[in-house]
This record gives sequence, C-alpha cells and structure tokens, in this order.
Amino acid sequence: MVPSNKVIAIDGPAASGKSSVATRVSKKTGFLHVNSGLMYRALTWSALRADIDTNNESKIIDHLNSIEMECIKSNDSLLLHIDGNDPGEELKSQEVNRSVSVVAAIKEVRSELVKRQREYLLISDIVMEGRDIGSVVFPETPFKFYIDASPEVRALRRRGEGGVDDLRERDKLDSSRKVSPLVIPEDAFVIDTSEMDLNEVVEKVLSELNNKGLIT
Ligand code: DC
Repeated sequence: MVPSNKVIAIDGPAASGKSSVATRVSKKTGFLHVNSGLMYRALTWSALRADIDTNNESKIIDHLNSIEMECIKSNDSLLLHIDGNDPGEELKSQEVNRSVSVVAAIKEVRSELVKRQREYLLISDIVMEGRDIGSVVFPETPFKFYIDASPEVRALRRRGEGGVDDLRERDKLDSSRKVSPLVIPEDAFVIDTSEMDLNEVVEKVLSELNNKGLIT
C-alpha cells in the first residue's frame, strides 16, 4: 500500500444518493471515484449472461475466477469491462438489481472483491462508495461518511432515475447478510439527506473534510 494515499469512504443503502455525492466529491478533491457496487453488479451481470443460477454459490465463485474484470480509467472514475465487454447501463438493469444482493452475500466473492478494492489505493487517492467501505474495506480511514435517506425518499429517487428496484428487499438482504452487512461505522459522519438537495449534502461532506484538514 502507498501509505500516503488517502480514502474517503462513502457508505449507505441503495438509492441514498451515494454515487452523486461521490462523483461531486471526487471532482472537488481530484480523488479517483471507485463505485464498489459496480464490481458486484458486473459479476452478477456476467453470471446471468452465462445462465448461471445466482443462488448457486460454488458456480458463482467459479465464474468469478474464470472472468477477466478489467477497470478502465475514464476521466475521474472507473469503467468495468468483463472479458472485454462493456456492460454499460445493463449493470443497473432490473435483472441485476434483483440478483446482486444474493451474489454480494457470498463470503468468497466478498473476500476477492474486497482485495481488489484495496488495490485501488496503490494507484491513487480514492473516493470509494459502497456498503462496507468504512467498516471493512478501509476501517482505518478517518474520512468516513454514511449517506442515508428515508425509504420513501430513496424509492422516489430511484423512480426518478427510471430504475426498477425492490429497495426494501435489497435493504433487507444487504443489512442482514452474515458477511460484512451494511452497518453505520461508529466513527462515520452520518448525513440524513431526506430533506436535502445534492448541493447541500456535498457542501456538508466538504465542510467535514475541511474540518478534518483533508481539504482547504
Ligand atoms: O450501491 P449499489 O446499489 O450499486 O450496490 C449493488 C449491490 O452490491 C448492493 O445491493 C449490495 C452490494 N454491495 C456490497 O455488498 N458491498 C459494497 N461495498 C457495494 C455494494
């Protein structure tokens, strides 16, 4: 690990606005934006394309070991290619939404993807969003945020994006799984964004980063 590289960890439930916040914080700080959820989504997408039953843990693990997941830097964020294919918006499809939490609950999948997530720090300072970034992937970072919003507001936001997503089911699976469930890290700065717009949330994050001496 390059000890001087820094991590801003942004966790929270589905459709809480993490990605929009992480994108803006990445632009402001110049840190590389890594969306860890896309890695779980890319594996799920690829398994579905290969007609693999996403409830079959050993087949999913074998599949992860058989595919090439390549990260391509595009501007300040990363795109994932699987075996040379760009899944694009298919990563956010209803089919992927429906199966991704089951795939992300597999212990071996998590340990492999967490290992890859930690490797990003070798390249750059990063803003990483996900469910377990502050609790498991980079517990030592002092820059932890937990972005929340009420279930009603999150459902509205997802519908506004045109997405079809059973948030309640995904929340339940993500929060109740045995391995690294979604939790609020004890030392995280929690922001309930239910009644805030994106600018206000970003300002709050930047002001906390300023208080902590990361930015001026
Ligand atoms: O953030 P997202 O909704 O795109 O994430 C998709 C799924 O991946 C989510 O339901 C849970 C899982 N995930 C995870 O378990 N750990 C992460 N660090 C990121 C996502």
